[in-house]
Amino acid sequence: MVDFYGGHAVALLGYGHPRLTAAIERQTRELLFQSNAVPMAVRERAASALAALAPEGLSQVLFVNSGAEANENALRLAFRATGRSKVVAVEGAFHGRTAAAAAVTWGAERWYAFPRRPFDVVFAPRDAAALAAAVDDATAAVILEPVQGVAGAVPLGRDLLAAARAATERVGALLVLDEVQTGMGRTGAPFAARLHGIAPDLLTVGKGLAGGLPAAAVAARPEALAGLAPGDLGTTFGGGPVVMAAVEAVIGALVEEGLMARAQVLSGLVRRRCQVGPVTAIQGEGLLLGLCTTRPAAAIQRELLARGFLVGTSADPHVVRLLPPLVLRAAEVEALAIALEEIPA
Ligand SMILES: Cc1ncc(COP(=O)(O)O)c(C=O)c1O
Repeated sequence: MVDFYGGHAVALLGYGHPRLTAAIERQTRELLFQSNAVPMAVRERAASALAALAPEGLSQVLFVNSGAEANENALRLAFRATGRSKVVAVEGAFHGRTAAAAAVTWGAERWYAFPRRPFDVVFAPRDAAALAAAVDDATAAVILEPVQGVAGAVPLGRDLLAAARAATERVGALLVLDEVQTGMGRTGAPFAARLHGIAPDLLTVGKGLAGGLPAAAVAARPEALAGLAPGDLGTTFGGGPVVMAAVEAVIGALVEEGLMARAQVLSGLVRRRCQVGPVTAIQGEGLLLGLCTTRPAAAIQRELLARGFLVGTSADPHVVRLLPPLVLRAAEVEALAIALEEIPA
């Protein structure tokens, strides 16, 4: 089986990467767990490594356990720093399944089940001017994914990101970039924000952060932590030593093994080779790609699975989503192209 889905983008280094497994093994023997109430060198190292990878100025890091939890905390920080109660999100967005994260998720009404949203939310169309117009003096934050993953690897584009940055600066709101799916080198840059030269106030990361162990984080500018008192943000498991050792190993491998450059090269190869058979167009960034298909994506997914390829679907019924481990090989892309050629259009 060739994995082009990576367990929802989690298996960033593939399976059994020696640096990652050795780091986890070593830390397990040394100290399995201690809470973040206790300072630890391994957590300091992981936080520094993440801050170095993040866009400039995001020097403060809080480790949590899931992407949704990271977004919940980022939004709480924005409410606290601004004293306001409105968030602008983008149509098509996915930010997670907890109360606040789902409140800014497009179409969550179908499964939300909470009686009401905990704050005011306005969804702006995927358009720079419309987004800017939705931001006003009541806005605490704009939250967006640089490339909307669950929507089908839909890039929001540099203009929209720049408009979000300018609009938030205009009214004193915070810009939260949800890089849970686009972060950790997936787009070919450490974070998509860096690809587009955008500096957010808060950035969330998850998925492949620890290569397979549950981990996520909020990275923040110091100003975004205004009004925060000790104990205001908390977590039992977040920042535990085994997970921190894994984060350190993943970032080390990402940087030292040239995996971001590799993501760019292989992205180009997928774009050149895989627009065949039922695939009419390819969208996305780096190794977060959406193959637009003539027939339903779920059927193409089944047909590829029968040929030994694991791919994902998306909220768009005609987009097959690829989120492969960044250790993907060119020969595997070639093999996928051949399989797609065999599948009826
Ligand atoms: C962009 C984005 N944000 C947040 C989340 C939620 O992450 P988690 O499932 O770890 O809570 C996801 C998960 O798919 C995501 O793609």
